[in-house]
This record gives sequence, structure tokens and C-alpha cells, in this order.
Amino acid sequence: MNEVHIQSRAKLPKSLFRGYSKVAVLVDENTRIHCYERIRSQLPGHELITIPAGEQHKNLATCQQVWQQMTGANLDRHAVLVALGGGVVSDLGGFCASTYKRGIDFILLPTTLLSMADASIGGKTGVDFGTLKNHVGTFALPKVTWIITDFLQTLPQPELRSGFAEVIKHCLVSDRKAWNQLRRKPLKAHNLTRLVRHSADFKMRVVSKDPREGGLRKILNFGHTIGHALEGLSLQTRTPLLHGEAIAAGMIMESYIAWRKKLLKEAELEEIRDYIVEIFGKAELPEEGKWMEALRQDKKNKGRNILMALPKSIGKAVFDIPVSEPEIRAAAGYYRNDQM
Ligand SMILES: NC(=O)c1ccc[n+]([C@@H]2O[C@H](COP(=O)([O-])OP(=O)(O)OC[C@H]3O[C@@H](n4cnc5c(N)ncnc54)[C@H](O)[C@@H]3O)[C@@H](O)[C@H]2O)c1
Ligand SMILES: [Zn+2]
Repeated sequence: MNEVHIQSRAKLPKSLFRGYSKVAVLVDENTRIHCYERIRSQLPGHELITIPAGEQHKNLATCQQVWQQMTGANLDRHAVLVALGGGVVSDLGGFCASTYKRGIDFILLPTTLLSMADASIGGKTGVDFGTLKNHVGTFALPKVTWIITDFLQTLPQPELRSGFAEVIKHCLVSDRKAWNQLRRKPLKAHNLTRLVRHSADFKMRVVSKDPREGGLRKILNFGHTIGHALEGLSLQTRTPLLHGEAIAAGMIMESYIAWRKKLLKEAELEEIRDYIVEIFGKAELPEEGKWMEALRQDKKNKGRNILMALPKSIGKAVFDIPVSEPEIRAAAGYYRNDQM
């Protein structure tokens, strides 16, 4: 299983890197400044690999640069890649490591709320392919995920909010009590280390029961069928949505679908919508034809059916629920005008 360690201070044990022939550290241009400099003196001699920041660089072209530098530095199969960054760096770094010379070890040091609460746990790696999110990837577990919540001090507010969407998701699919506590306060009033611990523990429990997403793990896709389609398309626009912003919109629309299917009560749907809109506002939805096309490509689909994970009352979830295009159009209408 994925070993996960959570602490607040930026302190790393030397033993983390023991036994490797070489160490390469992957950062993006922001985590290089804000996070790498804080732990640099604690790292053994290493090759530093810097990639440009942002989802638009989570692609095969960036992987080629990383593989190129790994090759240039003569990393052999006993080397380790340390990914220091958010979900883009951990997804791309994990993918590059798990395919380089048929796979070398990697260690994840997540630096965003999103990657601490979600992306750095569970062994999904990958990159986008055109507008298709995470279309090319592997299942590969990091040697360890070492979480330092002090890194969140420099994270810009919109990025913090983006990660909060996954925290909300974890509560909605698993824990009514935690949701009740969460929605009582705005994001800035929450203790971040506590939120990370709750979310990371929950994700670990789910993925340890179902590492390959044969069943239960699919509940983590709540909000992501519609959310990924929105995120993928928005990447081509001048104002791309952050992952969590797209997932927030996806959770409202998928909750509406759950209400139509009599899984959620109307009061629960309103509760979810009100809190998410209070925090995220509303995103602009893309043109519907393109959107349906993107939904048909979703990795969770089987044959012609669009399958979703939906909440079944707050705190529980069901998965593999077939959803029709008219239901999705109605959800978009609800999201745009708030009408049932
Ligand atoms: N593998 C999984 O299970 C999984 C789960 C959820 C999401 N994801 C993926 O995660 C990605 C989104 O991750 P993200 O939101 O962390 O994005 P990100 O990695 O792009 O980070 C967001 C921004 O914050 C900057 N940054 C990171 N840490 C910082 C810090 N401590 N201080 C200042 N700036 C910092 C980054 O440079 C970037 O500009 C998406 O590609 C999504 O598909 C993967
Ligand atoms: Zn997500």
C-alpha cells in the first residue's frame, strides 16, 4: 500500500533517500522557488528537473523533456525521482518514473491542498492528451507520500480553494458528520492540517480496499465525470478552470442528477449547491455539443453508457450509474438557472 506520512514542519528524514543510486528532484517553476528552497539543504546530491507550471503542460511533450534530462543524468533503474509539487507534478512525475526504463521508484512531496488531500495518494499517474484529461497513464504507487502542510503557506488562494473541492467531495461521499462540520465554516476558518488528515485517511482507506478501481474506488469520481469534461474543454480557452473549480461545478450538476434519480433529497441538493456556490461561485459552461462529445470519451464509460458515481444521501455514494444525455442537459439547465 501507499505509505503516507503527514506533518506540518518542512523537515525530511535522511532515510527517505537511502539506498538509491541517484536522486532526481522534479519541480515546477513555482515549487522550485517556494518549496524546493525550503528543503534543499536536507536533500542529498541530486539532479534538479524543472518543468513549466500549470495543467496545460501536463502532457507528453513535457514528459519527453523529463525523460531526456533523466537520461542525460544517467539515472539507472536504482535511481529515485522525487516529485515536489502539486497534482500536475505528482501525476506527471509518477508517470515519467513508472515508465522510465520500465519503472523506477518515486517519492511524492505534495505542495498543494489538492495533492495532499487527493492526488498524491493511491497510485494514479498520467498526463492529458489533447483535451482528454489523464488519458494516458499508469497505476504505480509511490515509495512514500510525505506530506508537509507548511508548504500551504505560500499557495495562492484560488489554488487552495481548488483543493478544497476534493475535501468537500470526500465528505459528501463518505461522512455526513464531517460534511456538517465543514459547511458550518468558510475555507479560511478551517484548520488545514486537520482537513488534510481527514481527506488523506479517507482516500487511503478507499484505495487500500480497491487499488485498481474495480468497484468502491469509483465513488471518488463523484463530480469528476462532468467536471473532467468541463476542465478538459476549458483548457483550450483563455480562462481555463482550475481542476477543483471544474469539479465543484461537476458536483452540483451530478448532485442534481442524483436528486432526479431519487437518491438525494431536495433539501440535501440545496445544501450542497448553496455551500459550493458560496465558495466557488458559478463557472461558465461550454457549448453543449462539444461537452457531450467529451463526456462520451470518459474513461469510466462502458460501451455507449455514460456512467457516474453519485451521492446516495449525503455521506454515502453509489457508482456505475448510467446517466442519459437528457439528464445531463437538464443538470446543465439547473446549474445555469438554479431551477429544478
Ligand atoms: N492522481 C490522482 O489521483 C489525482 C487526483 C486528483 C487530482 N489529480 C490531478 O491533479 C492536478 C491538479 O493538481 P493541483 O491543483 O495541485 O495543480 P498544480 O500542480 O498545477 O498546482 C497548482 C499551482 O500552484 C503552484 N504551487 C504548487 N504548490 C505551491 C506552493 N506550495 N506555493 C506556491 N505555489 C504552489 C503550482 O506551481 C501551480 O501553478 C490535475 O491535473 C488533476 O487531474 C490527480
Ligand atoms: Zn479531482
